[in-house]
Amino acid sequence: MSDLKKILLNKISCKSVWFMRQAGRYLPEFREIRSKNNNFIKLCLNSELSSEITLQPIKRFDLDSAIIFSDILMVPYALGQNITFTKNDGPKLSTLNIGSVFKIKKNEFSNKLNPVYKAIEITKKKLKENKSLICFIGGPWTLLIYMLGLKNNDNKLDLEKFNEYKSQINRILSELTEYLCIHIKNQINAGADVVQIFDSWAGLVPEKNLENFCYIPNKHIVEFCKREKIANICFPKGIKKNYEEFNIFVNPDGINLDSELDPLWAKEKLKNVVIQGGLDPTILLKSNEEITRAATKYIQTFKDIPYVFNLGHGLLPETDPDKLDMLIKFYRNFNE
Ligand code: CP3
Repeated sequence: MSDLKKILLNKISCKSVWFMRQAGRYLPEFREIRSKNNNFIKLCLNSELSSEITLQPIKRFDLDSAIIFSDILMVPYALGQNITFTKNDGPKLSTLNIGSVFKIKKNEFSNKLNPVYKAIEITKKKLKENKSLICFIGGPWTLLIYMLGLKNNDNKLDLEKFNEYKSQINRILSELTEYLCIHIKNQINAGADVVQIFDSWAGLVPEKNLENFCYIPNKHIVEFCKREKIANICFPKGIKKNYEEFNIFVNPDGINLDSELDPLWAKEKLKNVVIQGGLDPTILLKSNEEITRAATKYIQTFKDIPYVFNLGHGLLPETDPDKLDMLIKFYRNFNE
């Protein structure tokens, strides 16, 4: 059993580190490949290149896990939505046809994502046995935000659109969840060890809808994983103190903290779960002293419980790779 999987399933305490978005734009070797591949979705569908990008941070740094280079938007792509990335506005998706989108056959959906599974197979073969391979999906609500365009340019919920779709949201989330479970299963069958569920926009769910739009869909996915014995990590970013209720309701194997949460609060309130992450990615833009001071707070707080070292959100494109290397070495050499 790979280490991260062992930590999650057996709730054991041992050093383990990886970073969200560890394969990405802050690495010159990624930017090199990206500059020759203009279409981001096509790049994600290039199994050889995806595998190579996945392994870039593993070659450079002393990390315990690789996360497959792909995107949460590959699922809307496989459901037939057209996706483009513009330089400064992030992803743009074509209008969703709610009437036909969930009629797509499950095997057709899987076939469209086959290059992702192939990338996992290739990567698994190249990865040392003591390293874990992480796959991921977007949380149903977070995908719905993109699929229906429910977010304003200032990253707030577009209330007018939200109200327009409100009565259909439960149904859409539950249909989407079925496809997401297939995508998880296919990735695990291809060789992934662990799945992370990125509900990055959970913080945009109106509080009175949290149970229906965030907890219940995540719980369905976690229960699917448990039936299939798939080690899982949830990331309901931005829901503040509701992390406690989320953890009790959903009961995942692991939970990723965002940077807003106080680690001491999290240690006290989040029980029967492996805690991961929390360190603010903007810290890596500061001095070595500031970085190690902030990291120490997390490492010290969680020293006697199972904890996976990571961030509270993805690495920023402006991160200096040498600072990340310094942080990883600091973590490795840290003795309480
Ligand atoms: O190293 C890894 O973590 C694996 C790769 C990975 C990517 N996207 C590659 C990527 C992962 C895990 C994701 C998840 C993802 N994608 C999330 C959830 C995590 C989060 O950041 O909240 C979300 C919301 C997306 C959707 C998405 N993809 C956006 C909003 C964007 C554009 C803006 C941005 O943040 O970069 C992407 C593009 C994307 N996905 C890039 C990468 C490396 C940048 C593409 C480029 O080179 O322009």
